Amino acid sequence: MHARAVAATATALLGSAALLVPTPDARAGAAQPEIIAHRGASAYAPENTLAAVDKAAELGVSWVENDVQRTRDGELVVVHDDNLKRTTDAEEVFPDRAPWKVKDFTAAEIARLDAGSWFGPAYADARVPTLKQFVDRVELHHQKLLLEIKNPELYPGIEQETLKVLDNEGWLDRPHLADRLIVQSFGAGSVRTVHELRPDVKTGFLGTPSVADLDRYAAFADQINPSYASVSMGYVAAVHAVVGPHGRPLEVFVWTVNDANTARLVAGYGVDGIITNTPDVVRDALPAK
Ligand code: G3P
Ligand code: CA
Repeated sequence: MHARAVAATATALLGSAALLVPTPDARAGAAQPEIIAHRGASAYAPENTLAAVDKAAELGVSWVENDVQRTRDGELVVVHDDNLKRTTDAEEVFPDRAPWKVKDFTAAEIARLDAGSWFGPAYADARVPTLKQFVDRVELHHQKLLLEIKNPELYPGIEQETLKVLDNEGWLDRPHLADRLIVQSFGAGSVRTVHELRPDVKTGFLGTPSVADLDRYAAFADQINPSYASVSMGYVAAVHAVVGPHGRPLEVFVWTVNDANTARLVAGYGVDGIITNTPDVVRDALPAK
């Protein structure tokens, strides 16, 4: 059946499917979802730092998520907010540089900042990593990377630059492309650009498009990655019913699930991945793989 027809059938089922109470049994035979450490294991170490990657590795977590932005002088760095206030001491170090936007600082200036004390004194040495440093650390631990291009509208050309760093660091070879790398964004245009530049890279769109629109996203995204609170079993089924750019059903990674009950709920929906600050809690909540 054509993907659109399958999706239409799934859509028709949405009303009743959404009312079902999902249990892990509903997924009998289905693979357990992947567990992705959100900004690293960010409940236990400062988000988006190398320490958070290390913590995920220590917990035995394969997948790490991060957020990529760009400095004034063109370095790609890993930080979530578009400014440095919440997760560094930028206000103290550069008191006259409000509003402390990432894009207004050079890489050398950002490298001076303490990106860990806000989380705990033990992390005073943590820095905002460059993308290169981050992927090298993920590689060191033989982990996998869910890379988010954050605020792409602020950084024209960031897609090509991100792919260049990944290529330089060996992340676009066959083994990484096969199952160790996904590039996602809330910006549909950004995801589309990544797909057009490198059709062999697996991609994800962050958001919850209407079921009627899924076919459009399936032209360039392998995943639809929504907030867990915005999905139902019916929605997940509708996404799975659409075929993506690599000829496989679209996948769903939900965010950000930090407790056992919600982890079991979304696993029951049939999601393919759970993005979490507490990967150990999610893992313990699910049946062993
Ligand atoms: O990976 C999904 C999640 O990270 C999206 O939201 O704001 O944490 O980047 P945010
Ligand atoms: Ca993110």
